[in-house]
Amino acid sequence: MMKLARLCILPLAVVVSASPAPTKDVGDRFTRFTLPNVDPNYKARAAAIETKREGWLYGEYPIGGAFYPTGKLANETISKQEAQWFPIVIEHATLIAEESVAAMAGIIAAGNFSKLDDYANAYVNQWNVSLPGGPMLGMLTNYTDDRLFSMMRLSATPYKIQRVQRHKTLLFLVDNAASITGGLSLRDLQAQGRLFSTDFSHLKTLIKTNLLQDLPSSGKYGAGCQAYFYIDKSGDFLPLAVKPIVKGREKSALVYTPKDNPADWLLAKMLLNQNDGYHSTWAHVGQSHSAAEAPYLAAIRSLSDDHPVMGILNRIEKTPWGVRPNLETGLKYGDAFIGPPYYPWSPEAARDYVNQLYLSGESADFERNYYRSEFKKRGLVDSPFGPKLKSFPFYEDTSVITEAIRGFMETFINSYYPNDKAVAQDVELQAWQRETRAAQVYDFPHITTRQAIVDVLTHQAYLSVIVSNVMSTNGIHMNSMSLPFAPAGFLQPIPSKKGLTEKDLTKTNPKARVAAAKFKDTMNNFSTEVRARTFDQNGLNRGMPFIWDALDPNYAPYWSVI
Ligand SMILES: *[C@@H]1O[C@H](CO)[C@@H](O)[C@H](O)[C@H]1NC(C)=O
Ligand SMILES: *[C@@H]1O[C@H](CO)[C@@H](O)[C@H](O)[C@H]1NC(C)=O
Ligand SMILES: *[C@@H]1O[C@H](CO)[C@@H](O)[C@H](O)[C@H]1NC(C)=O
Ligand SMILES: *[C@@H]1O[C@H](CO)[C@@H](O)[C@H](O)[C@H]1NC(C)=O
Ligand SMILES: *[C@@H]1O[C@H](CO)[C@@H](O)[C@H](O)[C@H]1NC(C)=O
Repeated sequence: MMKLARLCILPLAVVVSASPAPTKDVGDRFTRFTLPNVDPNYKARAAAIETKREGWLYGEYPIGGAFYPTGKLANETISKQEAQWFPIVIEHATLIAEESVAAMAGIIAAGNFSKLDDYANAYVNQWNVSLPGGPMLGMLTNYTDDRLFSMMRLSATPYKIQRVQRHKTLLFLVDNAASITGGLSLRDLQAQGRLFSTDFSHLKTLIKTNLLQDLPSSGKYGAGCQAYFYIDKSGDFLPLAVKPIVKGREKSALVYTPKDNPADWLLAKMLLNQNDGYHSTWAHVGQSHSAAEAPYLAAIRSLSDDHPVMGILNRIEKTPWGVRPNLETGLKYGDAFIGPPYYPWSPEAARDYVNQLYLSGESADFERNYYRSEFKKRGLVDSPFGPKLKSFPFYEDTSVITEAIRGFMETFINSYYPNDKAVAQDVELQAWQRETRAAQVYDFPHITTRQAIVDVLTHQAYLSVIVSNVMSTNGIHMNSMSLPFAPAGFLQPIPSKKGLTEKDLTKTNPKARVAAAKFKDTMNNFSTEVRARTFDQNGLNRGMPFIWDALDPNYAPYWSVI
């Protein structure tokens, strides 16, 4: 029977409701913006920019990879933002603590956990404020369905999966592939462009088992997994195999497939979910927050506050500077808000993970991460090789929102710049582009056309709106780290042979992951559409046995949140 003293709660979900209220007077303010070359007060304008340059400097920061602002003006703004954030964070943390006690009592009253399905009890009439709806519909009932596992890669955790190209070396072999796929071997799948892979083998080296001595649970376990998925003959996207790799046992690493006994296969899927969940939790810091903060800081140092582009950036980047301090505080004190105690990896490992991903460019490269080209590069859309994905829910929802944002940005930019030349001649925009080098923004594009600035602003919004909500907040609490299927860590060592019973699985670490007019209209309509999603006669929604609604615009905040 599970030890309830180990029940740990991750209250990240609260930030959904903890975001500051939207700005109300945006429409009016935008009419006051001017471009530098038509501003009659150009001297005062230049002086004001100089004052900002003196008051906003580049400082180091332990987490996130990117510079963090320092200097007189920066410090004033940061203090103000922290004053805005902290009371809300404390209020919600207190609430979560209360809800955790109630949830614990509820679990005991329901007879504790003796099988995986019992985890559903942890959500019944619980988390009324922090996670009132519980995990996404289907997550608690359909988690043994392989399509739930595979389709999570095309919705909740889409940032690591890629199509295996024709000449790429295979990560590992799956001897019985043909018996799973109805006749296609691993090589056949690769040759036909049907094979996809994801690789978290690097996570094996981060494992530390004695993280926090003073906590009742001194060690969690995990592995670094590699996995294959494939498009089968009917067009379904399905899992083929998972290979969990444990440090020191690489040579004897087991390969799990749907042909294994259900408990073994379920464990393998949960181990990969843990990797993808960990990746989302930490990579998102660099991939959404730092990636958006760095160009924003460069913009503060280059653009007048009267510049329309600065107005847009201020609108998108609402209170961004409180995020990394919150994360750093949580990591430093091992606080429940951040959750290091639940993972097999130490707080130092989390910090290193974020920073390495950022500094390598993987999570930070600006133009290279424009979503259409990024997903194309990984062979998930517009692939000249292999069959098309029948359903790609992440991309479908992201396109609706991001293209609506692009439409708004186009109208906005065209209303200020009559042609591309006007963009190229905007001295402040050009200064921003140059400043991004000092700010160590990787791969920031040249801004010589109206389209280029539209794309930059659209991407900046995408980082805050989409990446943040899918990799953190909504996505993570209700799906990619929801129990029982996507645990943060395991209390038992990863088995070195197959033959589990479901009883062993109940020992997984239990915690509840408490998880402009036309534009607005489009978003409201999209929200209506998302909320009307149901299961079809086969129990599926867009090919998934769960309802992925992380990007419901009336639930997902429109700005950077944790
Ligand atoms: C701004 O804050 C940082 C961090 O607290 C501090 O090191 C720095 O001296 C401050 N700068 C000014 C000008 O107040
Ligand atoms: C459930 O767990 C609690 C705390 O460990 C324990 O006191 C209680 O007896 C358990 N209940 C059952 C039915 O096993
Ligand atoms: C949550 O709300 C339900 C329905 O209103 C109520 O029955 C339940 O007691 C509440 N749970 C807690 C822990 O307050
Ligand atoms: C939103 O939906 C309403 C009702 O169907 C429709 O009239 C309106 O044109 C839609 N707006 C947009 C921007 O698509
Ligand atoms: C998934 O879960 C929902 C809600 O519990 C159910 O209606 C649906 O039939 C399930 N789908 C499958 C494929 O089992």
